[in-house]
Amino acid sequence: GSGEGGVEFRDVSFTYPGAEEPVLRNISFKARKGETVAIIGSTGSGKTSVLNLIPRFYDVAEGEVLVDGIDVRRYSQHALRAKLGYVSQRAVLFSGTVSGNVAYGGSAAPGSDAEEGVRRAVAIAQGTDFVERMEGQYEGRIAQGGDNVSGGQKQRLSIARAVYRQPDIYLFDDSFSALDYRTDRELRAALRRETGGATTIIVAQRIGTIKDADRILVLEDGRIVGSGTHEELLQDCETYQEIALS
Ligand code: GTP
Ligand code: MG
Repeated sequence: GSGEGGVEFRDVSFTYPGAEEPVLRNISFKARKGETVAIIGSTGSGKTSVLNLIPRFYDVAEGEVLVDGIDVRRYSQHALRAKLGYVSQRAVLFSGTVSGNVAYGGSAAPGSDAEEGVRRAVAIAQGTDFVERMEGQYEGRIAQGGDNVSGGQKQRLSIARAVYRQPDIYLFDDSFSALDYRTDRELRAALRRETGGATTIIVAQRIGTIKDADRILVLEDGRIVGSGTHEELLQDCETYQEIALS
């Protein structure tokens, strides 16, 4: 089974409410505990739609989505979301302090355990340098919408927010796109090191981000057209070859 910390899709097809055509067709895959599964594919291929079914932003009509071997529809919303660290495609920050954003509104007063957790999460997300250069540091202000931080800094803080919650399962929707290659690599290495047992599903556009995943799913028009390691897909998936060589 897909036991503790696992995610499994069993022949999932999905149509958005009110839409005519399914956006996902017959999606099946497993991410076992501790594995990293990457999803790649062109814009509109359905990557975000796959991720959205895990926290039940939408329910499937056909097939099953399982977390820890249990159909997601059988969890309470709270219990399900507590397991998941979801980082959305558009990093969302609110006006408040750095700490408040990372602890998601929870208080992380200076000197508290929560503050220690915030520092650790920011460090894993490779944000320590820029946060400590900000005026006020962890108590420094983030403007409405995060307008005073760069796109890459926003991504790092929204990743830190997920890390802070210590989820069993990370869902990253294109969360590394605004990071330079080195930060991307170091961030993922730190995550692996510090969150050893966590299962990770990474949606990404660039090959460098997903190359070392245990398994890569290639999506095209809502279908999986390839599944395997980087080397395997380079051998036998035309769509992957096109992405890798572009
Ligand atoms: P990028 O993020 O651009 O790389 O694309 P993606 O691979 O994440 O695609 P996504 O899953 O967002 O979209 C797949 C298809 O579903 C596209 O044709 C979208 O237009 C469609 N779609 C996405 N969100 C919605 C929605 O909320 N309602 C409806 N009706 N269609 C949607
Ligand atoms: Mg998307």
